[in-house]
Amino acid sequence: MCGIVGYVGKNQAQSVLIEGLSKLEYRGYDSAGVAILDGERINVMKCKGRLAKLEEKLNKEPLEGRVGIGHTRWATHGEPSDMNSHPHSNYEGTISVVHNGIIENYVHLREWLVSKGYRFVSDTDTEVIPHLVDYYYDGDLLDAVMKATAKLEGSYAIGVICSKEPDKVVAVRKDSPLIAGVGDGEAFVASDVPAILNHTRDVYYLDDKEFVVLSKDGVEIYSAEGEKIEKKLNHVTWDANAAEKDGFEHFMMKEIYEQPKAIRDTMISRVMPNEPIKLDDIKITKEQLESIQKIYIVACGTAYHAGIVGKYVIERLARIPVEVDIASEFRYRNPIIDNKTLMIVISQSGETADTLAALREAKVHGARVIAITNVVGSTVSREADDVLYTWAGPEIAVASTKAYTTQLITMYMLALFFAQNRNTITKEEAESIKNDMLELPERAKKMLEQKEVLQKFASKTYMYKDMFFLGRGLDYAVAMEGSLKLKEISYIHSEAYAGGELKHGTIALIEDGTIVVALATQTDLYEKMISNIREVTTRGAKVLGFTVEGNTDMEKAVDSVLYVPKINNILLPVLTVIPLQLLAYYMSVQKGCDVDKPRNLAKSVTVE
Ligand code: F6R
Repeated sequence: MCGIVGYVGKNQAQSVLIEGLSKLEYRGYDSAGVAILDGERINVMKCKGRLAKLEEKLNKEPLEGRVGIGHTRWATHGEPSDMNSHPHSNYEGTISVVHNGIIENYVHLREWLVSKGYRFVSDTDTEVIPHLVDYYYDGDLLDAVMKATAKLEGSYAIGVICSKEPDKVVAVRKDSPLIAGVGDGEAFVASDVPAILNHTRDVYYLDDKEFVVLSKDGVEIYSAEGEKIEKKLNHVTWDANAAEKDGFEHFMMKEIYEQPKAIRDTMISRVMPNEPIKLDDIKITKEQLESIQKIYIVACGTAYHAGIVGKYVIERLARIPVEVDIASEFRYRNPIIDNKTLMIVISQSGETADTLAALREAKVHGARVIAITNVVGSTVSREADDVLYTWAGPEIAVASTKAYTTQLITMYMLALFFAQNRNTITKEEAESIKNDMLELPERAKKMLEQKEVLQKFASKTYMYKDMFFLGRGLDYAVAMEGSLKLKEISYIHSEAYAGGELKHGTIALIEDGTIVVALATQTDLYEKMISNIREVTTRGAKVLGFTVEGNTDMEKAVDSVLYVPKINNILLPVLTVIPLQLLAYYMSVQKGCDVDKPRNLAKSVTVE
């Protein structure tokens, strides 16, 4: 949802900003721009389109200077256009701003500024910020930014430069992510760590309403009251190459292939034979767990789909009632929350605005919150009571893959942890599930070996306009994820349906040649699923079926079959989803879509 970056230092700002933006493009890619101070003036270059277009322009007309800000946009207010691209500036061009978030009261502020004689050139909410800073500027940029942001309602991470103070960048966040980095004679701000990782690993995770001033001497942090704050400087240990394609054509494929390792890493020192599940990061006590009467799992998109699997396994193993909610709906339905409620939020980025809002709502009502996230230091991780990291490594492709499978692993670990603490599972059953879990990395590798089947299927079906995914129980949850993957990267309309539900209406859409992916991996639901498959094949559907090895009779019921290994049924979603990810990937490639950056989407949705 827009990426911002700011730099002050000894190097030319242009290359640092462009490199940083290239690592943030996953956040939005409608347009891009930079504003660079050459010591006296601010020069702005911005345009609609991908970062590559901006780079092309900058190659022809480079901007000199060692202080600057940059932006890559996911449009909210105002269509993607050169004019609506960031940075936005005041009329004289002495103040420039990049912004990630939404200014909710911008209409009112705009009217007020117009009444004071300010003129606007874009349709964005952001443009009120440089004018407000201009209005309050009286020789102190930090003070002006503080006064301007005090007027803002909504969410923002902003970076500001001013030609009257040509050696600094001022930045601040509220409900949008922002980190600051310190290098040798240089300083950075960015929406996310990868943007600066090639320059420094020493990072401050900023909290809401913390203001930073970057200069070549480093980073100073101030509270909204103007008091200097001493914060912990964190050393990031990630592998910078983890955010590179590594020879794969797309990040998505690389990340699909990383799943065996990501699954293994997420289980390390947590899942071990002959030992209870160890979740050292979780401080919730046995007594607290015993008092829990209800769990809410709240998330968005793919993470929500992982939550649906979570509901199934927690209820099954730990016998605690679980409700799963889409985060954007949760807050507005006045949910019943008290101190006997446990909330689990799932968020790859840890920055999704709706998920964060749900987390905060739960805390206000006294619930304990466990966060499952992939990003160390993310807002969700800092605001939850307990954090469980999925050790998937940076996920760059907009379509989530390895985050999903590691979220599933984390749900299994949590379910087993709850079950062992509440004595709702026998040692033997827990041992058997753990042993199967430990085999998942190798099994996942085997699933990847079936990629040619999916490639072939995609080459025959990519031109279809609609597709259906059917499943029952856990297979239904996986069907939802398969359908979302297909939609988001191949733009093929698809729906996921519970096998038994189809005949209550949607079966009217099945006709000769309709493509159906039918998941029938769950032993107790297999026969029922076969009946559902017959209901669609008799109406002309072409079916790609999924089942476990040994169920060869399925070959008679469908057009082609893909087998998953026989392991504990509750773990099968981790494996079944892999071919569905591959299917979506090949469909997208066949159609010539932009796999890693599908239209209209952004990786991290930091606005409501
Ligand atoms: C789909 C996808 C999105 C995210 C959703 C939540 O492939 O990536 O549906 O799952 O936007 O994002 P996080 O997990 O970062 O909260």
